[in-house]
Amino acid sequence: MNISVAIDGPAGSGKSTIANIIAERFKLMYINTGSMYRAVTLMAMRNNISFSDIEGICKLTNSLDMHFENDKLIVNEEDVSEEIRLPEVSNNVSNYAAIPEVREILVKLQQNMAHKYNVIMDGRDIGTVVLKDAPLKFFLTASAEERAKRRCKEFKEKGIDTEYNNVLNDILKRDYIDSNRKSNPLCKAQDAIEIDSSKLCIGEVVEVISGYVKEYIEKNN
Ligand code: DC
Repeated sequence: MNISVAIDGPAGSGKSTIANIIAERFKLMYINTGSMYRAVTLMAMRNNISFSDIEGICKLTNSLDMHFENDKLIVNEEDVSEEIRLPEVSNNVSNYAAIPEVREILVKLQQNMAHKYNVIMDGRDIGTVVLKDAPLKFFLTASAEERAKRRCKEFKEKGIDTEYNNVLNDILKRDYIDSNRKSNPLCKAQDAIEIDSSKLCIGEVVEVISGYVKEYIEKNN
């Protein structure tokens, strides 16, 4: 039987760090769906395709062959893992991720991956749309200020120069677009377990989630 673990939450809530550790611990494939929306955005920006050009974006999205190799995202044989994290991609991705036609294509791809493999998948609509029937769903939250602090630290470690206020504004803007778009907005699935990571360290959140995953595996194997 396939195991599917869904983790949703806003930008900077710690989803990817936590999902990576859980994936390794329980031998699951980690699928970072935000990376897939970022990859579409990167390729659209490279090709000067605006988010208002729906036909162009659909054609582009359908032409992208995406797969994960550990935590790397390979698109048409190119490793785009670093480039999709650049601030200019972050600043534009919400606009591309709000396009229903793009979401439809990527959701199908994500569901196919979950059919084939044991997965832990993170994003905004995993528990509500992509893996609606997943037995394990988590919703991570943290204050916008805490999330901005974490993002600044990440950028600094990568040598990228950013201002706290710009990062905070970007996070607030993205929260707004992600939560208010018509197609699959960010929201907690009714049956998701909510974890506020503002006052918990990564290790503590990992332990909470691991407890549920371990219990599920023991009961179902
Ligand atoms: O998790 P992230 O910050 O890398 O996500 C990048 C963007 O993609 C973010 O603005 C929300 C969007 N996204 C989405 O709409 N649905 C998902 N399942 C994952 C990400």
